[in-house]
Amino acid sequence: MERTLIMVKPDGVQRGLVGEIMSRFEKKGLQLAAAKFMKVSQELAETHYAEHKGKPFYDKLIVFITAGPVFAMVWEADNAIALTRAMIGKTDAVEAAPGTIRSDYAVHTNLNLVHGSDSAENAEREIALWFAPEEIVDYDRTI
Ligand code: CMP
Repeated sequence: MERTLIMVKPDGVQRGLVGEIMSRFEKKGLQLAAAKFMKVSQELAETHYAEHKGKPFYDKLIVFITAGPVFAMVWEADNAIALTRAMIGKTDAVEAAPGTIRSDYAVHTNLNLVHGSDSAENAEREIALWFAPEEIVDYDRTI
């Protein structure tokens, strides 16, 4: 069982797409392990996107992600990281395959609605950054 951090970004919240995005993961069969609706602090934004510091889009990205509330979630499934990334689609909406969230709802590389962890290492780091251990539900898989 693998966990991943998914975050509906400010543009997704503003456009009323939280339910649609959650619904896709639910219908696929992933299980929700944690969720919270929140504004992102400057510190959290900079830590979350530390690997992009210095890139041309970094400053705008930090302004964007701190501009309005986001909906952060932990989803779990076997291969949750690869599954959710395939469902989200490529960063550039032009390259996102039809049927993916970004292809269906986004036209922009910056305003691309949703973030999903891109590796097991980043998923572990991001989940620990966004959620306290007690905020994450452990399912009883015997029922
Ligand atoms: P995300 O998956 O959250 O990870 C980094 C974010 O930076 C990305 O989605 C985009 O919102 C944003 N971004 C803007 N321009 C680029 C770019 N050229 N390459 C990658 N990410 C970009």
